[in-house]
Amino acid sequence: MSKTASLGRSEVQKEIAMNNGVAQSVTRTQPLWLLAEVTYRCPLHCAFCYNPTDYDKHTQNELTTEQWINALREARKLGALQLGISGGEPLLRDDIEEIVVEAKKLGYYSNLITSGVGLTEKRIQAFKEGGLDHIQLSMHDITEEINNFITNTRTFELKKKVAAMIKSHGYPMVLNVVIHRYNIGHVKEILEMAEALGADYVELANTQYYGWSLINRSQLMPTMEQLQAAEKVTNEFREKHGNKMKIFFVVPDYYAERPKKCMNGWGEVFMIVTANGDVLPCHSARVLPNMQFPNVKGDSLSYAWSESDAFNKYRGDAWMKDPCRTCDEKEKDLGGCRCQAFMLTGDAEIADPVCTKSPYRHLIVEAIEEAKNPVIASQPIIFRNDKNSRALMEGEFADRVKPFHALP
Ligand code: FES
Repeated sequence: MSKTASLGRSEVQKEIAMNNGVAQSVTRTQPLWLLAEVTYRCPLHCAFCYNPTDYDKHTQNELTTEQWINALREARKLGALQLGISGGEPLLRDDIEEIVVEAKKLGYYSNLITSGVGLTEKRIQAFKEGGLDHIQLSMHDITEEINNFITNTRTFELKKKVAAMIKSHGYPMVLNVVIHRYNIGHVKEILEMAEALGADYVELANTQYYGWSLINRSQLMPTMEQLQAAEKVTNEFREKHGNKMKIFFVVPDYYAERPKKCMNGWGEVFMIVTANGDVLPCHSARVLPNMQFPNVKGDSLSYAWSESDAFNKYRGDAWMKDPCRTCDEKEKDLGGCRCQAFMLTGDAEIADPVCTKSPYRHLIVEAIEEAKNPVIASQPIIFRNDKNSRALMEGEFADRVKPFHALP
């Protein structure tokens, strides 16, 4: 899945006001989104996956159906309204139908985020009857070669069939296309394909560099010129074809001057429960040092959200150092991404180096320069798979991890 869901605090408060009385009074921020990363197992092996590179240690201790249903109930009581069912590939679990039914009963707006592998007629019918609201399908390219290369699978034809199946069951068609050096030159054709498939929404999610994509950054990162050309093509497509198909072009933060307000603020909107039950404010938080995370096997979500050190540590701006502390733009981005700051600089409390005011901005400039260098880019891609996950944990590929202060 891509790392892009984004809703502001005012929307949170509005949504909570409409919340059927489940969250009766709003005294502080409450989670709007529960993101359930129900498994890290995945039939695809995408080079840009943002899942943790050490995911293999969480594939044998997944939560049970009952534990997931309890988590859904608790998060709903806290006010969560949006449920993302994500992974890995969630359809590798056979209890998603049950989870969907429970989500409907609880009043969630539920969204299945899938590669499409494992989505059958029988399952999609059960999802429809169970009340699943939304399916987001990942697509990779217009060419079979690049689809199969970047995912390290043969899934090109299957994805088109799944797209048609989603449409035929009356779901809005939401396509997510992660953009990187291998497909950025095909943006026009990707949009034409999406239109031909009847897509209602297309997210062109330029790769952000976390997890596997950080390790493969020099292979995946496009140049500024490629990015500008892709944005131009997207704008021309919008002008020519109108707004019938909504297109989101998510700018990669390395090419921005200010960082993104990661997760819309630490502990403000999102609560993530991982396959093994850890409760996180963001997908990558486990890379941060000196942090202990609650786990649904022993902690309530109410404790996790309101009281745990993990959710309070980077809430608001009290933790900031200069230049963020005295920056007149700090409310806009809250200093950017804590995980990116730590992975790239070794200091979790410093400005995200994407910011041009950061003393570490040179790290981003060097990565941008590296993107122009085909020699460095010719290192082999490390695909996301169980074997590579174990190898990374055992210290193989040390040269590829060396520039980062944590195993991403
Ligand atoms: Fe941005 Fe953790 S991924 S704060």
